[in-house]
Amino acid sequence: MQLQGRVALVTGAASGIGAAIARAYAAEGADLVVVDRDGDRVQALARELPSATAHALDVTDAEATRRVVDGVAAEHGRLDVLVNCAGILTEVPLVEMDVDTWDRMIDVDLRSVFLMSRWAAPHMVARNWGRIVNVASQLGLKGGESLTHYSAAKAGVIGFTKAAARELAPHGVLVNAIAPGPVNTPLVDGLSPEWKRAKQAELPLGRFGDPEEIAPTAVLLASDPGGNLYVGQTLGPNSGDVMP
Ligand SMILES: NC(=O)c1ccc[n+]([C@@H]2O[C@H](COP(=O)([O-])OP(=O)(O)OC[C@H]3O[C@@H](n4cnc5c(N)ncnc54)[C@H](O)[C@@H]3O)[C@@H](O)[C@H]2O)c1
Repeated sequence: MQLQGRVALVTGAASGIGAAIARAYAAEGADLVVVDRDGDRVQALARELPSATAHALDVTDAEATRRVVDGVAAEHGRLDVLVNCAGILTEVPLVEMDVDTWDRMIDVDLRSVFLMSRWAAPHMVARNWGRIVNVASQLGLKGGESLTHYSAAKAGVIGFTKAAARELAPHGVLVNAIAPGPVNTPLVDGLSPEWKRAKQAELPLGRFGDPEEIAPTAVLLASDPGGNLYVGQTLGPNSGDVMP
């Protein structure tokens, strides 16, 4: 019960890695708020978990994100842990990418991390304790073919994490990132079979991960004392693909 008494908000919790983190946090005793743009699926998850509530939320909506974050803090009297996990992935060569595709990726995968953190951090600073866990990607470290927009957004998340960590650590708020390798979720279902075959062959472990193999890293970063010395780090449960 490493998160007993903590109020945690997880975005992108209706599916994949976010759902696994929500389940792991619930199992560790957190009071959980799960949000996703897929309201039905995130409500269904909340019904499964003890002490979880759900909100339909588009993490690109500045006003709605502020309303939900402030509402959670008001209702629970605190917000201890924020996990930014919502994300999208599309595969488009740079020379074919239209501006809307680029903008959408930056909006969902990077700007949302700023928005959620912007609204959550003051509640954490006020209590001199908080944890922000940003789900980036190893592609933000090494890049990926036909993934300039995604790689740039995730590299942005890693840079944001370091800067926010420097700013907030003196106030008791620790900001870190997780950069998973390929994980079996609906997100990668859309990638081409060639990409997946080539990717798998590159991995020292020889296989993709499962969401349940990422969630314990998110528990570690939120936990006390286990997470207490991680500041601005990017942890890599990635099947060995990137060894920084
Ligand atoms: N699966 C992988 O291989 C992998 C690898 C590295 C990083 N990641 C990252 O992990 C995170 C979770 O991905 P996943 O693989 O679990 O994918 P997923 O598609 O299973 O889950 C993503 C969730 O985010 C939600 N979402 C998307 N846009 C949203 C928006 N605008 N507002 C609110 N919710 C939104 C979706 O509805 C979905 O429930 C993403 O940030 C992704 O980039 C995934």
